[in-house]
Amino acid sequence: MNLTLKIWRQKDAQSAGAMQSYSVADISEDMSFLEMLDTLNEQLNEQGEEPIAFDHDCREGICGSCDLMIDGQAHGPEVTTTCQLHMRSFEDGQTITIEPWRANAFPVVKDLIVDRSAFDRIIQAGGYVSVNTGSAPEANSVPAPRDKAMRAFNVATCIGCGACVAACPNGSASLFLGAKITHLGELPQGQPERMGRVASMVAQHDHEGFGGCTNIGECTGACPKEIPLDVISQLNKDLRDSLRAGF
Ligand code: SF4
Ligand code: FES
Repeated sequence: MNLTLKIWRQKDAQSAGAMQSYSVADISEDMSFLEMLDTLNEQLNEQGEEPIAFDHDCREGICGSCDLMIDGQAHGPEVTTTCQLHMRSFEDGQTITIEPWRANAFPVVKDLIVDRSAFDRIIQAGGYVSVNTGSAPEANSVPAPRDKAMRAFNVATCIGCGACVAACPNGSASLFLGAKITHLGELPQGQPERMGRVASMVAQHDHEGFGGCTNIGECTGACPKEIPLDVISQLNKDLRDSLRAGF
């Protein structure tokens, strides 16, 4: 495949950025999207040009760091992470536009890399269970109903990629927040801190500059882990209960 790439270039957080066009040739449809960018960077290195900075780590759909807006869609045209997106999803001769996440709470660091540490601070605000658990207990010693255990497990698959924020017209992190609240709130270990947790995490979310949820649903459509929208209902319910409890 031969492709034209329109890529956001930005020297650093202080500089203005702009789209630049590049051509890449002989791209295999079996390559991942990041391998295609690697090919372009090898080409730029050979030409003595600055390679394109983009974030990645595991390349296995686990870490959530490969955050790219591809043709206006978070992680591109498939329901997967950018690292698991393959070039067979594109056509020979196609022009592909590649941008960083666009959200006030995720400032651009360089080219396609954004700073997602706002998510870390939301987790630090309450996304944990702070009891001294000692060594791992026998699995059946803390009974959890199967439906609750399965729901907790399903939403624990959130990898913190931020696609939900990038897709949301309000730049809201409600799906991420709802996943974390639901994950801990469904399990017995999460109950003692449940009300304080939601109050602290929502306060940090708002402090970081994420927007409010208006039930548009773009977030769940862009989520590579298919986190369902009803975690936001859980978030709102827990927040209401925490306010009633005086948190
Ligand atoms: S809810 Fe989905 S889109 Fe949002 S951070 Fe988690 S995995 Fe990524
Ligand atoms: S690089 Fe880790 S999820 Fe894509």
